[in-house]
Order: sequence, then structure tokens, then C-alpha cells
Amino acid sequence: MNILLEHTDAVGIEDKSMQLTSESLSYYLKALESAAEDRNYDTNEASVRLPFDAELREEVINMKNRFSNDQLKYVVVIGIGGSNLGTMAIYDALRGSMDGLSDNQPKLLFLDTVSPEKINAISSTLRACQSTDEFVILSISKSGGTTETIANTDVLLDQIKPQHPSVIERLVVITDEGSKFWLAAEERDIARIAIPNRVGGRYSVFSAVGLVPLALVGIDIEALCEGARKAIDHGIKPSLEENRSLFSASATHLHYLQGISIHNTFLFAPELESVGKWYRQLVGESLGKEQDLDDNKINAGITPIVSIGSTDLHSMAQLYYGGPRDKFTNVVTTTWNSELRVPNESALGELVQDIGGKSIEQLMEAIVKGVESSYEKNSIPFFSIRLPELSEKVIGYYLQFRMIEVMMLAQLMNLNAFDQPNVESYKNETRHLLKEAQATAV
Ligand code: PA5
Repeated sequence: MNILLEHTDAVGIEDKSMQLTSESLSYYLKALESAAEDRNYDTNEASVRLPFDAELREEVINMKNRFSNDQLKYVVVIGIGGSNLGTMAIYDALRGSMDGLSDNQPKLLFLDTVSPEKINAISSTLRACQSTDEFVILSISKSGGTTETIANTDVLLDQIKPQHPSVIERLVVITDEGSKFWLAAEERDIARIAIPNRVGGRYSVFSAVGLVPLALVGIDIEALCEGARKAIDHGIKPSLEENRSLFSASATHLHYLQGISIHNTFLFAPELESVGKWYRQLVGESLGKEQDLDDNKINAGITPIVSIGSTDLHSMAQLYYGGPRDKFTNVVTTTWNSELRVPNESALGELVQDIGGKSIEQLMEAIVKGVESSYEKNSIPFFSIRLPELSEKVIGYYLQFRMIEVMMLAQLMNLNAFDQPNVESYKNETRHLLKEAQATAV
């Protein structure tokens, strides 16, 4: 069950340049292969080991079994950035954008930014539970020191403690072993599970960060990792035809060199919006860098944007077609196997021609094909990615394909894909202001 690349001619780059660029990464394919085999997670690319780590999945399943029961209704994920976006991407892709209206249980609830609206909604939902068996709270922070996550955890526990005095027994901490958060959890005998030290936040979706919450809500983590393993098998192959990450990284980089520095992921399925936002973070933090690997100040970056089809055709298409030619687009499509159709006999008369009797899939296919052919006619560079279905295997494949692609892009741009030194500037300012406020209060 592989993803397919289509309309690759519409990338608008000569084959020869694609070939040369991909060949320049041959040394890196070997580095990725070694990283996937390194059981000690002792490489920069350590995250590619995760889908092969059966012991980790056993640990995750043990944690799931400890906290699952017939009454479980809510799994609350407290985490931000790399600590929740991957989980949200997979959950939304598989459970859909309208999960709030469905009877599916258990549900994942996300608490990321500090927001009274979110905290109040989640705490009143948990307070209304008859027993603590109805929920579990996962507090996820690789560093263990992220203001939003720690504050949200404290506030939520405080809010629900009057109704559920033993709430702490339903808390699981996911962090680096040895972090302050880990030690605090250990001291209080709170359940915990570690993230391998060299796996960074935005590459951690196949670690406990993503697998624990997803397993708790019944998502097949074995199939997810099977898809990811397949993407790694493909991602270390030398040929552009077989290696989708290599193709995409080469094409994106060659456009970047020509000044096309905006990358538009145009997802024609609303349930994939969070997948787009996960990728936005991956590209933003991995490739937006002040300095290159040789310490030259370069202020490099590719600006990732996310569009949802067909919604944004009625919002952004005018800009895409008529505006500056500074975007490289990936059209992402899927199939749903839905029976829904527009009736032959319209209740409203024939307001729009030729839609009677058409399935929703046929309508979307016509829209997508219309976009692809008008992009081609207007020489707007793009290629399409077809996801054969929205299943664990396919989504696992897609996320892993993207992570390898971004690691390759960082190599091509001579950047460190795994750090985010400039994010520290807002964190330091925030800590400073909180310290000042604390001093004034005392
Ligand atoms: O990808 C990253 O490293 C970041 O986006 C982090 O995930 C984010 O800042 C949250 O950090 P932490 O997991 O340490 O709370």
C-alpha cells in the first residue's frame, strides 16, 4: 500500500538536474540506512530507528493495557509542537475532521497552547466523568520544561482534583529519561515512558510520544510502523523512481535555488489538514535557520503553507494562479470509497449542470483534475501525491516519507535539521517576564 507520485513532469525541472541533485545525496542514503539499524539510537537521524523498534512497541502496548478499560472515554494529550502535532495528524486523518460529532470512543482531546477556553472545556468534561477509569491524561514534553505543557498539566490536575482526588494515578508522563520532569514523576511514582534521547520533538511521532495516545484510542500502531518501515525501505534506495523522498527533496531544493521558497501542500481532504500542519512544523523548524553547518550566517528557509481543497480554491486560488510565481505545490489526494451521490432528481431544480447522479468521489476527482490541468497549462510547478486510502499503513508511510525528505533537504541546504536554536529566544523572554512577575508578586 504505497503512496504514488503523479504528474512528476509538471515539476518543471530538467531530468539531468534532478539526477545530479539526487546523486549528491548518495552518501546520506547510507547514513539513513545505518541510523535505521542502530539499536542504540546514537545518530542524528535516530528517529528512523523507531518504526523498527519492536521492544518500544511492546512497552507502549503494556502502558496501553495498564490504562485501558471498557469505560475509557477520553485520552487527553497535553503537549505542544513536536509533542502533539504528529499524534493529531494521524488521529484526524484516521478519525476525520468531524470526530467531535461522532460516537467514537475513546476520543483524543488536545491541550497545547494556554487557553481558558480549552482548559475549561476539558476540565469540565473530565469533572463530569463518574470515575477516573473514564479518562487518562498524557503529559508529553521531551525537554520536560515547556511552560505551556507544565502549566496546562498543573492547571488541569488542579481543576479536576476536587471531583477526582486520585487523578494523579491516571497521569502518564512522556519525556526524556533523566529530565526534571522524569525525575519529578519518578519521585511521585507517576507512570512514565521515555523518548530516546536523540529523537527530536518533530521527528518523534513513532516514539511513545505518538504511539501511546494513538494506541490508547485503538489505532493500530503496528500497521502505522509497518507503513513507516516501507517508507524507510524506499527512502534509502538510490533511484528517483523508487525513492519518493529523494524525488521530492530534489525537486523542492532545485526550486528553492531558483527563488521559489514557498512550499504549498494542497490537501484535497479536510481530514488531512492536521497532516499539513504537522509538515509545516517539520519544514519550518528543520529548515528555517540563521546559520548553516559551517556557521555562516545565511537566514535560510522554505516557507511551508497548507491549503485545503476544495475549500481554499475559493479563498487562495486567485493568488496561486494570478500572484507571484514563488510557490512549489504538492497536490495530495486520496480516495474514500464513499457511496454518497448527488441525486439524479434535484430537489432544487438543475442549478448546476452535470452533477446529477455523480458520486462525491467523482466530483472531487473532477475538481482535482481541473486544478492539475490548469496548473500545467499555467506552468505553475507541482507534482501530485496520491494516498490510495486513509489507513494506518498509508499515513505511517506518508509521515515517514516526509521526515526523510526534510532530512534530505537539510543536507542539500547544508543545515542542521534537528535543532531549533532560535525558538529559545521567545522561551527565554517568557521565562524572564515570568520571573519578574513572580518577584513583583513577592
Ligand atoms: O520539534 C521540536 O523540537 C519542538 O517543536 C518541540 O517539540 C516543542 O517546542 C515542545 O517541546 P517539548 O516537547 O520539549 O515540550
